[in-house]
Amino acid sequence: MYRTHTCGELRITDKGRKVTLAGWVQKSRKLGGMTFIDLRDRYGITQLVVEADAPQELVDTATSLGREFVIQVEGEVVERQSKNPKMDTGDIEIKVDAIRILNKSVTPPFTIEDESDGGEDIRAKYRYLDLRRNPLKNALTLRHRIAHEVRNYLDDKCFLEIETPYLIKSTPEGARDFVVPSRMNPGQFYALPQSPQTFKQLLMVAGYDRYFQIVRCFRDEDLRADRQPEFTQIDCEMSFVEQEDVLNTFEGMMRTLFHNVLGVEIPNPLPRMSWYDAMDHYGSDKPDVRFGMTIHEITETAKGKGFGVLDGAAYIGAIAVPSAADYTRKQIDELTEWVKRPQVGAKGLIYIKVNTDGTFKSSIDKFYAPEDLAKIAAVTEAKSGDLILVLSGDNKRKVQNMLGVLRIEMGNRLGLRDPKVFAPLWIVDFPLLEWDDETQRFYAMHHPFTAPKPEHEKWFYSNAKEDLERVCANAYDFVLNGTELGGGSIRIHNADMQKRMFEVLGIGPEEAEYKFGFIINAFKFGAPPHGGLAFGFDRVCALFGGQDTIRDYIAFPKNNQGRDVMIDSPSEIDQVQLDELQIDVRKNG
Ligand code: AMO
Repeated sequence: MYRTHTCGELRITDKGRKVTLAGWVQKSRKLGGMTFIDLRDRYGITQLVVEADAPQELVDTATSLGREFVIQVEGEVVERQSKNPKMDTGDIEIKVDAIRILNKSVTPPFTIEDESDGGEDIRAKYRYLDLRRNPLKNALTLRHRIAHEVRNYLDDKCFLEIETPYLIKSTPEGARDFVVPSRMNPGQFYALPQSPQTFKQLLMVAGYDRYFQIVRCFRDEDLRADRQPEFTQIDCEMSFVEQEDVLNTFEGMMRTLFHNVLGVEIPNPLPRMSWYDAMDHYGSDKPDVRFGMTIHEITETAKGKGFGVLDGAAYIGAIAVPSAADYTRKQIDELTEWVKRPQVGAKGLIYIKVNTDGTFKSSIDKFYAPEDLAKIAAVTEAKSGDLILVLSGDNKRKVQNMLGVLRIEMGNRLGLRDPKVFAPLWIVDFPLLEWDDETQRFYAMHHPFTAPKPEHEKWFYSNAKEDLERVCANAYDFVLNGTELGGGSIRIHNADMQKRMFEVLGIGPEEAEYKFGFIINAFKFGAPPHGGLAFGFDRVCALFGGQDTIRDYIAFPKNNQGRDVMIDSPSEIDQVQLDELQIDVRKNG
């Protein structure tokens, strides 16, 4: 037997017990002839002591141990002279009788401590060492715990966990596909699933009325803190349901997760906000509602004072930043540069200080009298001491979006985004379609399998752009603290309506048949009404862990360039493999 106990297990009540432990040497130190060793495993750290009068061979072995050596020790649990209340095992130590070195280690390239001295790149290269550290171990343990709770909850509600294939045909979720060449079908490719969307709908047609899967998805898109090219979804679908049934079921799941994993109670029922309100007041379809500072339209109030920038704008919006009227010239200049960055895209920033002495100071004093500024302050609900920030432009949604980004930035700067505060909500009533000026066509806001609201079907079958623009869907997103954690919809289950959807999206009948014939056809065989959603599992884990970067909640993630630097992938493949696949690689031409 390699061990009788783990390194996190022994307590003062075990005093006198003969034990065998195995683990990694965290560190060792000599003190007055004695050798102290911290032995670590997944469960914790136990202090070992080799007495000064121990046999010389044992002392020599103890002295020879380097960091991260793997050892097995036998000894007796004794009470510590100086106890360490910060450690679970801090009341005891093991008086060592024998040490066996199971494996040596070269010196690790960074310290295996909670606060490691290693930079991100080196830790990514040696991910298996990084994973020995507590923060990552805790993250993966949390991930396991959440998966377990999800399975329990859904199993209780009669959901079946069913696997769907990875080598499939493109499922459009708005990103590029990763493709896999087929040796047996030269010149043909599988696509890795961006989600199991079509398969879960086919399972509904097959009669498996409650499906779920904790499943890997693949999307070739630009990476961010909350995006990985391969990530995991909690993917779910239900038959014979309306939007209300889906929301209740998954609100219940999230409520259970919050309660069982974090001991946090979330509101019952959860707040809901329409997509239009979210855009108008938060400039985002994933509003962070932990703090106010909402967007107010001041177009009518601010126009007509002879200031060209505002007079010529189609939309003028503002936020009132609490207690920021004392911002200095330098701070405002810096903020102005900040909103001009391409990531925000504003042309400039107008400010109005609502001073505590009742006066105003603004960058537009030349055109606006104090009464005019007071009117703007009233509309924006600014209080004495607030700083009003104004943006304008010719596209309402674009300006709102910029104000939304500015709002989040100010929320960060003012410390209003505490990761320990949780403010979940549903965003509902999404438009079904989104017009793109550049390509002059409609795109599905969720995906092309989302159904129009029954009461909007008349517009869905109209060919007028204005009609199509106002069609809403029974589509919903679960949003937490400014992050979209999940989303879904009630689906189309009628072949003709699905064909119409492809037509609206500019996908001709032949292309629709080639790409999606299988699902259109399946709908002819008694497809039940159905709907569902998918949560981003990595995002759920990260937010539960109080982080907004998902990378540490994934055992072996990719870096920002989509590379796994540990195994050095992607990489070139052999000419033999390429020949088998009948693929010619064109290099940078
Ligand atoms: P959607 O595309 O909104 O919906 O994806 C669902 C959730 O998956 C997470 N997510 C990601 N997480 C990490 N990295 C990524 N690259 C990434 N992309 C998405 C998000 C998101 O809310 N088939 C539909 C669901 C449905 O309609 O049932 C779908 O995939 O948290």
